[in-house]
Amino acid sequence: MRHPIKHRLAWSIAGILTTAALVAAASPGQTAFEHRRDVMKQLGANFYLGVGRVVKGRAAYGPDTVTAAEALVDLTAALDTLFPPGSDVPDSKMKRQLLADPAKSAALAAAVRADATALLPVVRGGDKAAIAASYKSLSDSCEACHSQFRQEE
Ligand code: HEC
Repeated sequence: MRHPIKHRLAWSIAGILTTAALVAAASPGQTAFEHRRDVMKQLGANFYLGVGRVVKGRAAYGPDTVTAAEALVDLTAALDTLFPPGSDVPDSKMKRQLLADPAKSAALAAAVRADATALLPVVRGGDKAAIAASYKSLSDSCEACHSQFRQEE
C-alpha cells in the first residue's frame, strides 16, 4: 500500500474506460446496425441461396425452397424499421443519405415486402419459370436499394 491514491486512480480510470467501452458497444445506433446486418444476412441466405439456387438450377426444388420463401415474408415484414437515425456507425456499409430520406427507405422496403409476399404462393406452386420471374422481380427490388444506398465492397 505504498501508493494507495495512485492505485485507486488507476482503477477508477480502468473503470471509466470499461464503462465507456460497454456504452459504446450497446449504443442504440450500433445495436440497430448489428440488427440490420443480421436481418440482411438472413435475407441473403434465404433469397440468394434458399430460392436462388433452385432458380439457377444448382439445387432441387423441395420443401426447403418453400421454407426459404416463407422466411422472406417474415424477414421483410419490418424492413422499414431497419434504418433508424444513428445507425450509420463506422462499421456500416450503408450510405447515410438513406437516413435523410425515411419516405424513400419506407417505399423501397414496401416494394421488397410486396414482392416477397407475391413470391411465396409462386414458390408453393412449384412452376420453375414462374418462380424465376418472381425471383427476378424481388431481386430488382433488393438492388433498387443496394445500388443507391449501399457502399461497394
Ligand atoms: C431499403 C434498403 C434496402 C433494401 C430494400 C434491401 N437492403 Fe440489403 N442492405 C441494405 C444496406 C444499407 C446494407 C448494408 C448494411 C450495413 O452495413 O449497415 C445491406 C446489406 C445487405 C447484405 C449484406 C449483409 C452483410 O453480410 O453485411 C445482404 C446479403 C443483403 N443486404 C441482402 C438483401 C436482400 C436479399 C434484399 C431483398 C430481399 C435486401 N437486402 C433489401 C439496404 C437494403
